[in-house]
Amino acid sequence: MTQDERQSQAIPARHQKVRKAVLPAAGLGTRFLPATKAQPKEMLAVVDKPQIQYVAEECVASGIEHIIIVTGKGKNSIEDHFDSAPVLEQYLEQKGKHALAELVRRISNMVQVSYTRQKEPLGLGHAVLVAKDLVGDEPFAVLLGDVLIPGKNPATKQLIDVYEATGTGAIAVEEVPREKTHLYGIVDGEPAPIAPFGERLLRIRDLVEKPATEKAPSNLAITGRYVLPPAIFDCLERTKPGAGGEIQLTDGLRLLAKEQGLWAYIYEGISYDAGDKLGFLKATVELALLNEEFGPAFRDYLKTLKL
Ligand code: G1P
Repeated sequence: MTQDERQSQAIPARHQKVRKAVLPAAGLGTRFLPATKAQPKEMLAVVDKPQIQYVAEECVASGIEHIIIVTGKGKNSIEDHFDSAPVLEQYLEQKGKHALAELVRRISNMVQVSYTRQKEPLGLGHAVLVAKDLVGDEPFAVLLGDVLIPGKNPATKQLIDVYEATGTGAIAVEEVPREKTHLYGIVDGEPAPIAPFGERLLRIRDLVEKPATEKAPSNLAITGRYVLPPAIFDCLERTKPGAGGEIQLTDGLRLLAKEQGLWAYIYEGISYDAGDKLGFLKATVELALLNEEFGPAFRDYLKTLKL
């Protein structure tokens, strides 16, 4: 059976709901030293929230019911952040700071969170594989914590809509300048304008992790949001170390695309790469400008800077 036949067979069926999300958070954060020497990069605050909270909020806004965070050594503060904090809550209530108490309470109540550990830094694909038992036999989302995509139409929800309509995995992509393709997973896709997704939907022919610029098959980069069928686990188990000697998620997706089909979806929205120092600064400035409470005042302040 050809890939096209498999995909068109999948379309009419009713597909399983996407309820779970995996958030890989085991990386050592070396791009952000010394800030990450004793604290996880996922806990670095952009404006007023740790990065991982933005990502958890995107999950909740996308209808995810259960988040699985893949942690490693030195990541305990992530668990504390999503746990209840009775002493702090009581203190705030006693001081009459009810809104702040509610803000703190909401973080621990927003969604069910489970944790599992990646014992060795063997790569993103391996980190996702570590979540296999907690995910079980159902489709799930993967969100990379250093990519922030604010907005009312969450990128993860857009991918879930594609998965639930077609039963085939979907990954978010966006155009990047050619000279930056070596920093991303890059897809080779052909337009597959299926209603209601239109021109944004591409059928993936191949993917390559961090290609040399002259070898990049396109300038469509993987953005760090994925919705995948459980078959990805079997693919990852067969994936050998690739770029950087690590088990790459992109290489597992390559197998998945060949065996079951995979969509690339040019999602609607803007992503901020908070994974390195300059990207983090840009994310901080841009999200501060969007902040309802102090965005306008911050904009006025920036205008006074003599650059
Ligand atoms: C990871 C993925 C890559 C993707 C990128 C998006 O790379 O491996 O395919 O394009 O995230 O940010 P990393 O940035 O973790 O090296």
